[in-house]
Amino acid sequence: MAAATPTTLPLSSEPASESSFWADADRHLVRYYGGGFTREIIERAAGSFVFTAEGRKILDFTSGQMSAILGHSHPAIVETVRRQVATLDHLYSGMLSRPVVELARRLAGTLPAPLEKALLLTTGAESNEAAIRMAKLVTGKHEIVSFARSWHGMTQAAASATYSAGRKGYGPSAPGNFAIPVPNAYRPDFTTPDGGLDWRRQLDFAFDLIDAQSTGSLAACLVEPILSSGGIIEPPPGYFAALQHKCRERGMLLILDEAQTGLCRTGTWYAFERDGVVPDILTLSKTLGAGLPLAAVVTSVEIEQEAYDRGFLFFTTHVSDPLVAAVGNTVLDVLADDGLDARARELGAFLRTGLEEMAGRHEVIGDIRGRGLLVGLELVVDRETKQSSDELGARVTRRCLELGLHMNIVQLPGMGGVFRIAPPLTATEDELALGLSILDTAIGEVSAAL
Ligand SMILES: Cc1ncc(COP(=O)(O)O)c(C=O)c1O
Repeated sequence: MAAATPTTLPLSSEPASESSFWADADRHLVRYYGGGFTREIIERAAGSFVFTAEGRKILDFTSGQMSAILGHSHPAIVETVRRQVATLDHLYSGMLSRPVVELARRLAGTLPAPLEKALLLTTGAESNEAAIRMAKLVTGKHEIVSFARSWHGMTQAAASATYSAGRKGYGPSAPGNFAIPVPNAYRPDFTTPDGGLDWRRQLDFAFDLIDAQSTGSLAACLVEPILSSGGIIEPPPGYFAALQHKCRERGMLLILDEAQTGLCRTGTWYAFERDGVVPDILTLSKTLGAGLPLAAVVTSVEIEQEAYDRGFLFFTTHVSDPLVAAVGNTVLDVLADDGLDARARELGAFLRTGLEEMAGRHEVIGDIRGRGLLVGLELVVDRETKQSSDELGARVTRRCLELGLHMNIVQLPGMGGVFRIAPPLTATEDELALGLSILDTAIGEVSAAL
């Protein structure tokens, strides 16, 4: 191979001009998804806003990648990172520090029995990877069941349990992964006589199929309490208790992935609190570090002991890292001190009222759903037929950005575009009102031009 020749010389500490920034980005960055990068340079972020190089102020209705529940650069997090990085940043993975043990103890304090043993990691995929490994080891089985619109991450076991995107072209997923249908009340597949969703029949049918396909090695069900990337679908009350019953009947563990729903966003500390179930294993990520890379797997003494006895191994570079564990402790402090579970309920109600008023003005709003500050808004071309249009959602998203609001839209086959609205729990009513008014304008303009 010829010696590498530098392509961009000289190296400079001057900020790149807008055009050379994009030339470098286009030339040197791997494009990791089809959506394309937002064509604005983001220079900084604070609270509920991000700021562009051109001086535009954009309201962040996705909390970064659904993570920054305390807004950007929350002063308490900034202070913790400064202090911790200067004191104890990273360690050999077999060593322990105070922030790690403190976070494990405090997480247990936010959770019902018997969830009291934590493994502290970095990303959501990694937490699900570890949970699946643990479930396989403890049950001695390997089959994993998850929702047909799930997103659990990009690593092998997590991606094998992810059905909403990314399955084609990467060769076989892990053997023994099965999907069950999503209980979607807006687009019911199994219906009651009055046209509502018959989720019990749907669930029975799903497990008849699972039993038919299983080789007798069902290890666990891995599900989100509210499917986020699947279009903000909230399974009806009673669903998770029934799912847990199906798991128990088959000796499977129930793993709940609260990457997006955990830590107060839905109005309770954990979304599963609504359902009267306690998972065997809980995974937390995005919201736990409020934007910094922190994740956790939490389980019972019994499961942890069984895993340990069978030689459980999950030894990574950043397991039990003190820096992000300290951040996690600060996240717990702010959530508790500021009562952000109640705040998510109040702001969620405010947002919901605004969206419902908006639905009165715009026929293209087909459905509003979700809980607390995790809200979905489904756009349709026709309310009667619920016909979808990818173009509609894409145009509203573009117009919102032009007007100063960052929104994320999920577009999946058979669904309208679904906006995922998840502002920081620290947002003000004025900020939510600003977002609502921009969205109202964008939907109005785009639907008038249909
Ligand atoms: C529910 C859920 N689980 C897991 C993940 C994966 O997390 P990460 O991207 O941090 O690996 C995501 C990411 O969107 C998610 O939404």
